[in-house]
Amino acid sequence: MRKSRAALALLFALTIAMVMILPAIAQLAPSKRSAAAVVQRQPSETIAQASAPTAKLPSVVILATGGTIAGTGATSTTTVGYQAAKLPVTALITAVPELKKIANVTGEQVLQIASENMTNEGLLTLADRVNVVLAKPDVDGVVITHGTDTIEETAYFLNLVTKSQKPVVIVGSMRPATALSADGPLNLYNAVAIAGSPAAVGKGVLVSLNDQISAAREVAKANTTSLNTFQTPDLGYLGYVELGKPYFYRTSTRKHTTATPFTVTPSTKLPQVDIIYGYGNNSPVLLNAAVADGAKGIVYAGVGNGSISVQLESAAIAARKKGVIIARSARAGSGRVVRNGEEKDDENDFIVADNLNPQKARLLLMLGLTITSDTKALQEMFYTY
Ligand code: SIN
Repeated sequence: MRKSRAALALLFALTIAMVMILPAIAQLAPSKRSAAAVVQRQPSETIAQASAPTAKLPSVVILATGGTIAGTGATSTTTVGYQAAKLPVTALITAVPELKKIANVTGEQVLQIASENMTNEGLLTLADRVNVVLAKPDVDGVVITHGTDTIEETAYFLNLVTKSQKPVVIVGSMRPATALSADGPLNLYNAVAIAGSPAAVGKGVLVSLNDQISAAREVAKANTTSLNTFQTPDLGYLGYVELGKPYFYRTSTRKHTTATPFTVTPSTKLPQVDIIYGYGNNSPVLLNAAVADGAKGIVYAGVGNGSISVQLESAAIAARKKGVIIARSARAGSGRVVRNGEEKDDENDFIVADNLNPQKARLLLMLGLTITSDTKALQEMFYTY
């Protein structure tokens, strides 16, 4: 009797032990699902999350392009003078194990550059990957890691050419990954939280750093080194991201993504559009050089309300007569350039860039010129997108 009681107790203890240990063993062993996922992926894709996808979590793909968020410095206090675009996407994801709690994350290295080296070809490659990835039914959103220097340009370009309502969030950092208080890991965590959130669906391309969420069309880098560098002059942030959840307070009213006529492929030929800066004692030399170099459009980053000096004006009028589109923007950093305000836009057949900064005006004019060179139609695009 005593023996059989002891045997029963032993059996009970063994059962409890199995119940507790088996799930742990199962977690350690590579699951069949994740192995199958590895086989099905394109060779260029990097599977960065080792464990099996958790069904109830959103699936977010991180497309990495380099920048300071992937940068490394010589010491932990090297916050300038570091090397951007050194760490691969796998390292960025591994550095934030908390990502596994909020999304099933996979990563792909699309580019590995400092963002001042972004080219039209780079934009087209990235846009293609975003569209291909978002077309997969099992993907809920995309995060793009990017250098902050031209993040606003890439964000606005993608805002115009992404053909999906799913969230696209572009994220960077101001400090390299090796720095004391590096901001990249939390920025990445926040970006994945936004990209996996139903609240971000249909909002156009978003930029998130420093717990802030901005619209691609509105945001601009405003400080060379501060963590609080991204500003949306006059208009404000769309919202904030806190504790793994985005909070939106408004949306951008301009059309974007699926509501634009712009479609691109990696082989799209984007026309040359150059930016000419306005300043005192402006000479027409650079504008004429751009036209001679084959520019199809000139964005003029004018003083004040996009004003053009008399020295430059005649060169701009002559360029327009040769078929070059002249778009008046402003170097001021905020506010609208008013049509027929400081210039005779109707008479000279110029267009105005509304409140787009010159670098974003360049992107819209390039895309607009893939569809039309009619100045009325182009002007309408600047009031619409
Ligand atoms: C870059 O834009 O690639 C370098 C600077 C940065 O990411 O902050």
